[in-house]
Amino acid sequence: MDSRPSPSPSPSPSPSPSSPSSSGVVVVFNPQQSRFQTSDGLAFLTYHIRPSSSGSSHGSLDLQHTYVPPSKRGLGLAGVLCKAAFDYAKEHNLRVIPTCSYVSDTFLPRNPEWKPLVGKSSRAAGL
Ligand code: COA
Repeated sequence: MDSRPSPSPSPSPSPSPSSPSSSGVVVVFNPQQSRFQTSDGLAFLTYHIRPSSSGSSHGSLDLQHTYVPPSKRGLGLAGVLCKAAFDYAKEHNLRVIPTCSYVSDTFLPRNPEWKPLVGKSSRAAGL
């Protein structure tokens, strides 16, 4: 049975490492737990894929919650996770919904080149 989210961006069936980022951190795509995570799983960015409401365009990647263990904060790890998620959205033609405050208030202001991918936020939509 196909348990992938709809619309399916054809995720890998199990956690799969992507290329190391420029920081040397490997981000793993884990569709079973709907997260982008570090290889040890301790830092992660959870997502939810929302189908297009119009049915005529692509869906959205709702970035919901970022977590980095206290001992690893302030090193840019959350930014690396966000970059991987935005790369994924771009690759799969998904709009990004920046529900997580780290994404909306820190990552996007510091990385404005990703703003064109951003759709209406959950907060702006009053959800
Ligand atoms: N919302 C927005 N920005 C936040 C934030 C929050 N809740 N918490 C911290 N930040 C900012 C800080 O201002 C910091 O800025 P600085 O570089 O000027 O000090 C910046 O994030 C650090 O960026 P980065 O190093 O890439 O992040 P990180 O790897 O330290 O992780 C969090 C940041 C938010 C993921 C981490 O602090 C955490 O897990 N916090 C608890 C969970 C949480 O609040 N998640 C965000 C809401 S979903």
